[in-house]
Amino acid sequence: MPHSESHFDAPHDPDDGPVALRTSTSRRGFARFLFAVGLGGVVPGAGKLFSDFLTPTGPYAAALRVGSTGDFVRGGAPVHFEIKDANGLLRRLQIVHLDPADAARNGSDGGNGILAMDAQCAHLQCTLRWNPGFDFEGQQGWFRCACHGSTYTRAGVRIFGPAPRSLTTFRVHITSIGEVIVDATNGELGDRTNPSRAVPVPPRFLA
Ligand code: FES
Repeated sequence: MPHSESHFDAPHDPDDGPVALRTSTSRRGFARFLFAVGLGGVVPGAGKLFSDFLTPTGPYAAALRVGSTGDFVRGGAPVHFEIKDANGLLRRLQIVHLDPADAARNGSDGGNGILAMDAQCAHLQCTLRWNPGFDFEGQQGWFRCACHGSTYTRAGVRIFGPAPRSLTTFRVHITSIGEVIVDATNGELGDRTNPSRAVPVPPRFLA
């Protein structure tokens, strides 16, 4: 199920200590997230709530703005981010815009839209970067871990190496003005369904 339709869990409470990746899901949390976003657009006086969300502090501290849809070329290389959330935690992310027409072995595997992934290898958490020149079985361009060689497609699907699974993904929301927001509090363990977790970009934002 695409992230946009799935869930944003209840926001992290700073009193709970450092944010940890969680695999549980919560439709109620996502509804609250969308409610907060929607209020900014339709309810007079709710602008501050909306701006607080987009400049996250407190309960929305891990909702990260990573850019606009136009910053992520459809079918292009994943973009690496190292950004601190409002709690001061460093987040390492890879954001990619999957093109469903990309049928290469290292490609989208049918995924369509923006996918946010943990940039840490699923083996021992070495930081991953997209390597456009790395050749694996005659195909160039992979996430290739420099530590022990785990190899992942553009959608973070593991195809080789000691990593036990594919890359963790995070839920994405695309706002009405085309901003891309990632909820970094709730990671979903990666598997072959990673491509289907991408959030389609509304046609008006596609070049
Ligand atoms: S940490 Fe990436 S393969 Fe071991």
